[in-house]
Amino acid sequence: MNKEISRRNLIKLLGVSGITLPLTGLAQPLKETVSINKNKNTPIKLSSNENPYGPSEKVRNSIINAFDEACRYPYSKISELEKMIAEKENIDPKMVVVTGGSNEALRATGRMYGIEKKEIITCQPTYLALLTYAEEFGCKINWVPLDDDLKFDLNEIEKRTNNNTSMLFICNPNNPTGTMLDSNKLKDFCISMSKKTCVFVDEAYFEFSLKDGYPSMISLVNKGYDMIVSRTFSKIYGLAGVRIGYMIASPEKTARIRKYLMAGTNILAAHAAIAAYNEDDFFEYSLRKNKEGLNYLYKLFDELGLEYKTSKTNFVFFKSGHHIDKIQKFMKKKSILVGRPFPPYYDWCRISTGKMEDLIIFGNALKEFYKT
Ligand SMILES: Cc1ncc(COP(=O)(O)O)c(C=O)c1O
Repeated sequence: MNKEISRRNLIKLLGVSGITLPLTGLAQPLKETVSINKNKNTPIKLSSNENPYGPSEKVRNSIINAFDEACRYPYSKISELEKMIAEKENIDPKMVVVTGGSNEALRATGRMYGIEKKEIITCQPTYLALLTYAEEFGCKINWVPLDDDLKFDLNEIEKRTNNNTSMLFICNPNNPTGTMLDSNKLKDFCISMSKKTCVFVDEAYFEFSLKDGYPSMISLVNKGYDMIVSRTFSKIYGLAGVRIGYMIASPEKTARIRKYLMAGTNILAAHAAIAAYNEDDFFEYSLRKNKEGLNYLYKLFDELGLEYKTSKTNFVFFKSGHHIDKIQKFMKKKSILVGRPFPPYYDWCRISTGKMEDLIIFGNALKEFYKT
């Protein structure tokens, strides 16, 4: 059961457990709500790139208040959210499909393109939801290695594109590497390649770079290029467990893809997403806390002399120099969950930012790993 504790009690608690916490990170204008969702048997979860600070208090209240409508089907609330997204992105509401997490958007698209039994080109490793679904329906996946900087190799993808290619799947920033493409390079690629085939851009972590002025590829979808973009409320908005995301495509394509959706989302999630969308404080707070987490991890890896990729997301990919199974096993014994194996990078490990107190526990465990 979730409980809220005050800043003072938190400090007391951490004092008892012997954990030191950088107190500057706690001086927030936002009311600090710290979920105690852990007991001794609950592992520290740094494996799924969740935002452990969410949902915000306002969003929690919106979910609670929405229970009055829980006996109703969610369609009109979902339409309201689709209109909000369309307004924010300056596009036609018919171009927006709200889904049960962006995974549903990815899977539905994977199925729609997969049944053509053609070929999707992408890089390895990347986020698999669309690809494994397409493969399941008979589509061939043409795997291109990442480039030397662990970024999507757009030149090689272009070279391999042929008459049998039905889609190019780009994850930007990429999961698990956290790397992001040069925006002009990606834009040029999308413009030229979408004349030959559909280009899908997964922007699950886009909001982490929004303030840096990194452009979304949604503007190209709006200009009529054959493209699809997916986004989620799971990351910066901290709503992973609520399952809500969306995709943007031409009205013709969204009408087709809607036929492939299975579960959709629900009225509580729609309320939560609308409340989250209208709240800037938590967005800023998440960005700040994430930056603190990233900086902690960079410093840790520097101290240990480990190579890593600077991340545009809420996780870092670092070269452990050991097989991932070994690190996973070691950490699991300490009740810490880290990312899964990402072939062919077996000696790399993905770690999510998490709360600072959890990162400190991870940091100490990692130092111990290299001592043993
Ligand atoms: C790149 C990427 N896309 C999509 C998703 C799916 O997110 P969700 O289904 O929670 O929206 C994730 C989840 O980790 C991800 O890393």
